[in-house]
Amino acid sequence: MGKRSEIYRGNIVTSPAMGELTCLEHGFIAVKDGVIEGVWQQLPAGYAGAEVTDFGDGIIIPAFSDLHIHASQYTERGVGMDSLLFDWLNNYTFPQEAGFRDITYAETIYPQVIRELLRHGTMHASFFTTIHYDACDLFFWMLEESGMYAYTGKVNMDMNSPDFLVETTEESLRETDRFIAEHSGGERVKPILTPRFAPTCSEALLKGLAEIGKRRHVGLQTHLVESRAESDWTKELFPAYRTDGDIYERLGFLENGPAIFAHVIFPEDVDIGILKKYGCMTVHCPDATTNITAGIMPVSSLKADGIGISLGSDIGGGHGAGIYRQAGRAVQLSKMKEFYEPEYRRIKFADAFYLATAGGGSVFGDVGQLKEGFRFNALVIGGMEDKGAAHTVPELLERFCYIGDDRNILRRYLDGVLTDPDEVYARLVR
Ligand code: GUN
Ligand code: FE
Repeated sequence: MGKRSEIYRGNIVTSPAMGELTCLEHGFIAVKDGVIEGVWQQLPAGYAGAEVTDFGDGIIIPAFSDLHIHASQYTERGVGMDSLLFDWLNNYTFPQEAGFRDITYAETIYPQVIRELLRHGTMHASFFTTIHYDACDLFFWMLEESGMYAYTGKVNMDMNSPDFLVETTEESLRETDRFIAEHSGGERVKPILTPRFAPTCSEALLKGLAEIGKRRHVGLQTHLVESRAESDWTKELFPAYRTDGDIYERLGFLENGPAIFAHVIFPEDVDIGILKKYGCMTVHCPDATTNITAGIMPVSSLKADGIGISLGSDIGGGHGAGIYRQAGRAVQLSKMKEFYEPEYRRIKFADAFYLATAGGGSVFGDVGQLKEGFRFNALVIGGMEDKGAAHTVPELLERFCYIGDDRNILRRYLDGVLTDPDEVYARLVR
């Protein structure tokens, strides 16, 4: 016999579709074995007499998804932020990532990454690591232990990379195939192909990776048209392909699992057609694209084209783990874009909250919304009220995204289990 249902009461807010927020004030959620049985204004008669955990005016929301984060860049948060993309990569990122050849460095850093994400309410994420097999393997098993929902990949780099952070094509393919083979079959944590970006991957490497993707049924994550310099350089290096996106389509990466493309700031019509045709997921990383001054993702036009969109912290291009903050920043940047390009349309807070929750959650299955049949991966938010002021529940949630922080996340439920980030960290470093 399964366990009894748990019943929670509070102001329940979820986004079922882009631009929509539903809010049930002082509503009820029943959860059994980590799965939501129902969400109601009144508790159904069948639950009469059941014990209810009442969060009062607390706001119950789905946990966040971060679809683009470099676990290996955790210590770079807030450093070198006055650089542009290529200087930042060469001066900070590549030397720092090289440290992961030493497994003790990975043992020190990676538990902190997981704790930081859970602290900020992120329970589902797609991670880049580095080229180093052992550190990638360690991180994979730490994610498994944490209970997070994740994709994680061994990064590939066989050209245009420094001597201290580069692989041969053969090595890169062999280690990636081994990584996929030894880490498949998990329920919550799954491997994914992770060519860093086209400029650091030879055509032979990309062809080999696509072959692994087809053979082992694994998806792809990479950076796509992140900056003008990147997209121009890619065209120069890959003259046989029309655009960045054309490379991944023609080599056959896009039909084997999720295809997650970070940034997508300068997509051409060819790219748009491809993203749409294969149901790819794009990831908007507002802080990162501001810090490395890449540009602003055209969120509302991608939305109009029916393309999947989510949010990412892009640590360490981005400096903070809070995806809720990226929701606020996505609105801000869309307004800047509208200001400079009057034909562009800004987005609303309800759009951004969808990207932060259901949008990103969609690549993991039944997470990112509070509705029947979905996992109870949820947060309770509180303390956003000002004495003497009367804000609506959606306003309090918007404020959390702009001015709240992890202290306003009062509870975290992962698969229905109350989760303490410090306790997870302690298990990972034991
Ligand atoms: N392009 C290639 N590598 C990176 C990286 O580590 N971060 C970002 N933001 N862009 C990249
Ligand atoms: Fe990135």
